Amino acid sequence: MPIVISDSGLKSVADPLPSINIDQARLQNWIEELANFSDSASPSVTRVLFSYPDLKARAYVKRLCSEIDLHIREDGAGNIFARWEGSNTALPPVGTGSHIDAIPNAGRFDGTVGVLGGLEAIRALRESGFRPARSIELIVFTSEEPTRFGIGCLGSRMLSGILAPNAARKLRDPEEKSFEELRSLAGYGGKSLEDVKLARGAYAAFVELHIEQGPLLEKENVPIGIVTAIAAPSTLRLVLAGIGGHAGAVLMSERRDALVAGAEIALLVEQAALHNGSADTVATTGIFRIEPGAVNSIPSRARLEIDVRDTDAAIRDRVLDKIEKSAREVSRRRGIELSFEVLNADPPAACDTRLVSVIEDVCGELKILCRRMISRAYHDSLFMAQICPTAMIFIPCRGGVSHRPDEYSSPQQVAKGTEVLSHTLARLSSH
Ligand code: GLV
Ligand code: MN
Ligand code: MN
Repeated sequence: MPIVISDSGLKSVADPLPSINIDQARLQNWIEELANFSDSASPSVTRVLFSYPDLKARAYVKRLCSEIDLHIREDGAGNIFARWEGSNTALPPVGTGSHIDAIPNAGRFDGTVGVLGGLEAIRALRESGFRPARSIELIVFTSEEPTRFGIGCLGSRMLSGILAPNAARKLRDPEEKSFEELRSLAGYGGKSLEDVKLARGAYAAFVELHIEQGPLLEKENVPIGIVTAIAAPSTLRLVLAGIGGHAGAVLMSERRDALVAGAEIALLVEQAALHNGSADTVATTGIFRIEPGAVNSIPSRARLEIDVRDTDAAIRDRVLDKIEKSAREVSRRRGIELSFEVLNADPPAACDTRLVSVIEDVCGELKILCRRMISRAYHDSLFMAQICPTAMIFIPCRGGVSHRPDEYSSPQQVAKGTEVLSHTLARLSSH
């Protein structure tokens, strides 16, 4: 029987797989119920950090965790930890989980599959009679999506220590509400942000289940993807201050139009990514807001938020430099005042090779086809990889569609991913 001892002291012993029954109907029911907590009409889901639907969704997930007596802890950033205690509490636990916040007009599977699938994986293990040596902990990360504060993975970024408490305190949402104020209103103010950061090795391993958000698994008819690396994301915020005025009275030669400057920059962002010499470079101007927003008024101000990624951080950074130069040149030429801010420029993460092999072995023993792949989307795993061995399990989604209301994975696909997760957690937690 092969035994591997990783840096974290984790032993992955290839015990025979326990007999586990994933309750597909129960899991689907949870996914449907959670989707009801939304600020947009079904099938669209909008659940922004600390909004009313987000708070309701948090309460719902905590209730499900309590039903199976998981021990719940929450930290000052609003990360939720639900623990199934193992027989040897001296050992670092095994973690799983994802996020339940959703960007405006999203679907119902991004993140939620990892949270509810994680819960079902634990629940099914308990029902099978399996008893872990290491505790298994389900984590619901705060704000994996960047909607409210501009940067993604807020909770896991803080857990890993990459976002320090003082930097978190400076975060403001578009209405100038601070993270500090909003977390207090959400009921987390009594807990110190200083206590959020976890020590390296706080978990023996972390495994996140997620929809692929790309087309490969569906195209190749492979039910399970095992992530080997997560691409490097970055976000820019540009504020362009021009001069507003009457749309009829100000002649074209006199204008300092913030929108047209922003439009020119958005086109240059596309060009920078297209001509970066890497098919992996992608760049998106996802936010473009103008003020005052009246048809007969020249836009005086524009805010652009730009997402740039590549699997290689140095290659991505070439695009960031190019965008900055272009934005400065356009602004100078058009007489516009520019504020240029890099909100985040994160390195890519490599998944733990031993965990990847454990998941591959589990798939092999379950006779489930799998393939290795990279994740072009980011995930909380990007930051968990900073503190413990981390890997991800992907399931197909229809047409590779995500961040849209028509995002879809079938009940069978979700259940299969959950089954693989469940067995992986069993294997990682039993020694
Ligand atoms: C996550 O939601 C991402 O944008 O990759
Ligand atoms: Mn997402
Ligand atoms: Mn996600």
